[in-house]
Amino acid sequence: MSDGSNSPGNSGAQLTGGIALGRAADVERPLRIGILVSGRGSNMQALVAACRQGHVAAQPVIVVSDRPGAPALEKALAEGIPVRCLDFHSYPSREAYERDLIDTLQAAEVELIVLAGYMRILSSEVIRAFPQRILNIHPSLLPSFPGLHPHEQALAHGVKLSGCTVHLVDEGVDQGPIIAQQAVPVLDDDTPETLSERILEVEHQLYPEAVRLMASGALRLFDRRVVRSVERRQ
Ligand code: GAR
Repeated sequence: MSDGSNSPGNSGAQLTGGIALGRAADVERPLRIGILVSGRGSNMQALVAACRQGHVAAQPVIVVSDRPGAPALEKALAEGIPVRCLDFHSYPSREAYERDLIDTLQAAEVELIVLAGYMRILSSEVIRAFPQRILNIHPSLLPSFPGLHPHEQALAHGVKLSGCTVHLVDEGVDQGPIIAQQAVPVLDDDTPETLSERILEVEHQLYPEAVRLMASGALRLFDRRVVRSVERRQ
Protein backbone atom coordinates (compact mmCIF):
# COMPACT_ATOMS: atom_id res chain seq x y z
CA MET A 1 0.00 0.00 0.00
CA SER A 2 1.15 3.51 -0.54
CA ASP A 3 -0.31 4.79 2.74
CA GLY A 4 2.25 3.38 5.10
CA SER A 5 0.82 -0.04 5.82
CA ASN A 6 3.22 -2.89 6.09
CA SER A 7 2.33 -5.31 3.37
CA PRO A 8 5.07 -7.43 1.82
CA GLY A 9 7.69 -5.18 0.26
CA ASN A 10 8.25 -5.29 -3.48
CA SER A 11 11.90 -6.11 -3.86
CA GLY A 12 11.56 -6.15 -7.63
CA ALA A 13 13.52 -9.38 -7.53
CA GLN A 14 12.37 -12.63 -9.10
CA LEU A 15 12.35 -14.75 -5.98
CA THR A 16 12.58 -18.47 -6.37
CA GLY A 17 11.77 -21.21 -3.90
CA GLY A 18 9.22 -20.94 -1.16
CA ILE A 19 5.54 -21.66 -1.73
CA ALA A 20 3.50 -19.64 -4.23
CA LEU A 21 0.41 -18.11 -2.57
CA GLY A 22 -2.94 -17.19 -4.00
CA ARG A 23 -2.94 -18.37 -7.57
CA ALA A 24 -0.83 -19.71 -10.38
CA ALA A 25 1.07 -16.85 -11.97
CA ASP A 26 -0.33 -17.34 -15.45
CA VAL A 27 -4.06 -17.36 -14.68
CA GLU A 28 -5.74 -14.26 -16.06
CA ARG A 29 -9.24 -14.57 -14.65
CA PRO A 30 -10.52 -13.24 -11.31
CA LEU A 31 -9.68 -15.37 -8.29
CA ARG A 32 -12.79 -17.09 -6.94
CA ILE A 33 -13.23 -16.14 -3.29
CA GLY A 34 -15.59 -17.45 -0.62
CA ILE A 35 -16.28 -15.16 2.34
CA LEU A 36 -17.12 -16.59 5.77
CA VAL A 37 -19.04 -14.36 8.17
CA SER A 38 -20.75 -14.51 11.56
CA GLY A 39 -22.03 -10.97 12.10
CA ARG A 40 -22.08 -7.43 10.78
CA GLY A 41 -20.12 -7.94 7.57
CA SER A 42 -18.45 -4.56 7.13
CA ASN A 43 -15.15 -6.13 6.02
CA MET A 44 -17.09 -8.30 3.57
CA GLN A 45 -18.70 -5.16 2.14
CA ALA A 46 -15.36 -3.38 1.78
CA LEU A 47 -13.89 -6.38 -0.02
CA VAL A 48 -16.87 -6.81 -2.33
CA ALA A 49 -16.73 -3.09 -3.21
CA ALA A 50 -13.00 -3.32 -4.00
CA CYS A 51 -13.63 -6.30 -6.29
CA ARG A 52 -16.54 -4.60 -8.03
CA GLN A 53 -14.53 -1.40 -8.53
CA GLY A 54 -11.77 -3.41 -10.20
CA HIS A 55 -9.14 -2.80 -7.48
CA VAL A 56 -8.91 -6.50 -6.64
CA ALA A 57 -8.75 -9.21 -9.32
CA ALA A 58 -11.16 -11.44 -7.44
CA GLN A 59 -14.81 -12.45 -7.64
CA PRO A 60 -16.83 -13.19 -4.49
CA VAL A 61 -18.69 -16.37 -5.50
CA ILE A 62 -20.29 -17.29 -2.17
CA VAL A 63 -20.86 -15.91 1.32
CA VAL A 64 -21.32 -18.47 4.09
CA SER A 65 -22.55 -17.69 7.59
CA ASP A 66 -22.51 -20.01 10.60
CA ARG A 67 -25.26 -17.92 12.17
CA PRO A 68 -28.80 -17.42 10.89
CA GLY A 69 -29.78 -13.78 11.02
CA ALA A 70 -26.23 -12.48 10.64
CA PRO A 71 -26.65 -8.99 9.11
CA ALA A 72 -23.84 -9.87 6.66
CA LEU A 73 -26.20 -12.30 4.89
CA GLU A 74 -28.69 -9.57 3.96
CA LYS A 75 -25.85 -7.34 2.80
CA ALA A 76 -24.43 -10.11 0.59
CA LEU A 77 -27.85 -10.79 -0.92
CA ALA A 78 -28.25 -7.09 -1.65
CA GLU A 79 -24.96 -7.31 -3.58
CA GLY A 80 -26.30 -10.25 -5.58
CA ILE A 81 -23.82 -12.75 -4.11
CA PRO A 82 -25.04 -16.32 -3.49
CA VAL A 83 -25.33 -16.96 0.26
CA ARG A 84 -25.52 -20.08 2.37
CA CYS A 85 -26.36 -20.23 6.03
CA LEU A 86 -24.90 -23.31 7.70
CA ASP A 87 -26.39 -22.95 11.19
CA PHE A 88 -23.70 -24.45 13.41
CA HIS A 89 -26.21 -25.40 16.11
CA SER A 90 -28.34 -27.43 13.71
CA TYR A 91 -25.53 -29.98 13.14
CA PRO A 92 -25.02 -33.03 15.35
CA SER A 93 -21.30 -32.33 15.66
CA ARG A 94 -18.57 -29.89 14.68
CA GLU A 95 -17.25 -32.53 12.26
CA ALA A 96 -20.61 -32.66 10.45
CA TYR A 97 -20.75 -28.87 10.24
CA GLU A 98 -17.24 -28.63 8.87
CA ARG A 99 -17.82 -31.43 6.35
CA ASP A 100 -20.76 -29.43 4.98
CA LEU A 101 -18.67 -26.25 5.03
CA ILE A 102 -15.88 -27.90 3.01
CA ASP A 103 -18.38 -29.40 0.54
CA THR A 104 -20.13 -26.03 0.12
CA LEU A 105 -16.88 -24.17 -0.58
CA GLN A 106 -15.58 -26.88 -2.92
CA ALA A 107 -18.87 -27.00 -4.83
CA ALA A 108 -18.56 -23.24 -5.38
CA GLU A 109 -15.02 -23.84 -6.70
CA VAL A 110 -13.59 -21.37 -4.22
CA GLU A 111 -9.85 -20.71 -4.61
CA LEU A 112 -9.38 -18.44 -1.59
CA ILE A 113 -11.40 -18.32 1.63
CA VAL A 114 -11.65 -14.97 3.39
CA LEU A 115 -12.73 -14.94 7.03
CA ALA A 116 -14.52 -11.64 7.63
CA GLY A 117 -15.65 -11.49 11.23
CA TYR A 118 -16.11 -15.28 11.24
CA MET A 119 -16.01 -16.15 14.91
CA ARG A 120 -15.30 -19.89 14.82
CA ILE A 121 -11.96 -21.62 15.00
CA LEU A 122 -11.50 -23.88 12.00
CA SER A 123 -10.23 -27.39 12.69
CA SER A 124 -7.34 -28.98 10.83
CA GLU A 125 -9.84 -30.76 8.54
CA VAL A 126 -10.81 -27.45 6.96
CA ILE A 127 -7.28 -26.07 6.95
CA ARG A 128 -5.96 -29.22 5.23
CA ALA A 129 -8.72 -28.98 2.59
CA PHE A 130 -7.52 -25.46 1.65
CA PRO A 131 -3.79 -25.31 2.39
CA GLN A 132 -2.44 -21.72 2.47
CA ARG A 133 -5.77 -20.62 1.04
CA ILE A 134 -7.54 -19.18 4.07
CA LEU A 135 -7.08 -15.54 5.19
CA ASN A 136 -8.18 -13.91 8.42
CA ILE A 137 -8.19 -10.34 9.69
CA HIS A 138 -7.66 -9.67 13.38
CA PRO A 139 -7.93 -6.26 15.04
CA SER A 140 -4.54 -6.15 16.76
CA LEU A 141 -0.89 -6.14 15.77
CA LEU A 142 -0.30 -9.87 16.01
CA PRO A 143 1.34 -11.69 17.70
CA SER A 144 0.09 -9.28 20.39
CA PHE A 145 -3.44 -9.80 21.67
CA PRO A 146 -4.74 -12.84 19.77
CA GLY A 147 -8.11 -14.39 20.53
CA LEU A 148 -11.09 -12.67 22.09
CA HIS A 149 -11.40 -9.01 23.11
CA PRO A 150 -8.22 -7.70 21.47
CA HIS A 151 -9.14 -4.03 22.05
CA GLU A 152 -9.71 -4.61 25.76
CA GLN A 153 -6.42 -6.51 25.88
CA ALA A 154 -4.57 -3.65 24.14
CA LEU A 155 -6.00 -1.02 26.52
CA ALA A 156 -5.35 -3.15 29.60
CA HIS A 157 -1.74 -3.65 28.53
CA GLY A 158 -1.27 0.07 27.90
CA VAL A 159 0.22 -0.17 24.42
CA LYS A 160 0.51 3.09 22.48
CA LEU A 161 0.02 1.41 19.09
CA SER A 162 -2.49 -1.21 18.12
CA GLY A 163 -3.82 -1.93 14.63
CA CYS A 164 -4.84 -4.86 12.46
CA THR A 165 -3.26 -7.88 10.85
CA VAL A 166 -4.18 -10.01 7.85
CA HIS A 167 -2.68 -13.48 8.08
CA LEU A 168 -2.88 -16.95 6.62
CA VAL A 169 -4.88 -19.29 8.82
CA ASP A 170 -3.03 -22.25 10.25
CA GLU A 171 -3.85 -24.53 13.14
CA GLY A 172 -3.01 -21.99 15.85
CA VAL A 173 -5.38 -19.22 16.90
CA ASP A 174 -4.43 -15.98 15.09
CA GLN A 175 -0.92 -17.35 14.56
CA GLY A 176 -0.45 -17.95 10.81
CA PRO A 177 2.08 -16.16 8.58
CA ILE A 178 1.40 -12.42 8.28
CA ILE A 179 0.41 -10.95 4.90
CA ALA A 180 -0.12 -7.31 5.93
CA GLN A 181 -0.34 -5.13 9.03
CA GLN A 182 -1.13 -1.55 9.79
CA ALA A 183 -0.67 0.34 13.05
CA VAL A 184 -3.26 2.63 14.66
CA PRO A 185 -2.32 4.92 17.60
CA VAL A 186 -4.04 4.29 20.92
CA LEU A 187 -5.32 7.57 22.40
CA ASP A 188 -5.36 8.40 26.10
CA ASP A 189 -9.15 8.61 26.20
CA ASP A 190 -9.81 5.50 24.07
CA THR A 191 -12.41 2.97 25.10
CA PRO A 192 -12.62 -0.47 23.48
CA GLU A 193 -15.40 0.96 21.30
CA THR A 194 -13.54 4.03 20.03
CA LEU A 195 -10.36 2.04 19.40
CA SER A 196 -12.36 -0.63 17.58
CA GLU A 197 -14.02 1.99 15.35
CA ARG A 198 -10.70 3.54 14.29
CA ILE A 199 -9.09 0.15 13.65
CA LEU A 200 -12.13 -0.98 11.66
CA GLU A 201 -11.68 1.92 9.22
CA VAL A 202 -8.14 0.74 8.60
CA GLU A 203 -9.28 -2.90 8.26
CA HIS A 204 -11.50 -1.82 5.38
CA GLN A 205 -8.42 -0.68 3.47
CA LEU A 206 -5.99 -3.37 4.55
CA TYR A 207 -8.10 -6.46 3.84
CA PRO A 208 -8.85 -5.63 0.19
CA GLU A 209 -5.17 -4.78 -0.28
CA ALA A 210 -4.11 -8.16 1.15
CA VAL A 211 -6.58 -10.00 -1.09
CA ARG A 212 -5.35 -7.95 -4.04
CA LEU A 213 -1.82 -9.15 -3.31
CA MET A 214 -2.99 -12.78 -3.03
CA ALA A 215 -4.84 -12.46 -6.34
CA SER A 216 -1.82 -10.88 -8.00
CA GLY A 217 0.09 -14.17 -7.89
CA ALA A 218 3.14 -12.34 -6.57
CA LEU A 219 3.34 -13.60 -2.99
CA ARG A 220 5.59 -16.40 -1.82
CA LEU A 221 5.91 -18.00 1.59
CA PHE A 222 9.35 -18.74 3.02
CA ASP A 223 8.92 -20.48 6.38
CA ARG A 224 6.79 -17.87 8.21
CA ARG A 225 7.70 -14.92 5.98
CA VAL A 226 5.42 -13.76 3.18
CA VAL A 227 7.45 -11.97 0.52
CA ARG A 228 6.39 -10.17 -2.63
CA SER A 229 8.32 -10.63 -5.83
CA VAL A 230 7.36 -9.10 -9.17
CA GLU A 231 3.61 -8.52 -9.47
CA ARG A 232 2.12 -10.30 -12.41
CA ARG A 233 -1.36 -8.90 -12.21
CA GLN A 234 -2.95 -5.80 -10.68
C1 GAR B 1 -13.59 -7.01 12.70
O1 GAR B 1 -13.07 -6.02 13.55
C2 GAR B 1 -12.61 -8.16 12.60
O2 GAR B 1 -11.28 -7.76 12.60
C3 GAR B 1 -12.93 -8.94 13.84
O3 GAR B 1 -14.32 -8.89 13.95
C4 GAR B 1 -14.80 -7.69 13.35
C5 GAR B 1 -15.83 -8.08 12.34
O4 GAR B 1 -16.48 -6.95 11.82
N1 GAR B 1 -12.45 -10.28 13.76
C6 GAR B 1 -11.94 -10.93 14.78
O5 GAR B 1 -11.85 -10.48 15.89
C7 GAR B 1 -11.47 -12.35 14.44
N2 GAR B 1 -10.66 -12.86 15.51
P1 GAR B 1 -17.29 -7.03 10.46
O6 GAR B 1 -18.26 -8.22 10.60
O7 GAR B 1 -18.01 -5.73 10.38
O8 GAR B 1 -16.31 -7.25 9.35
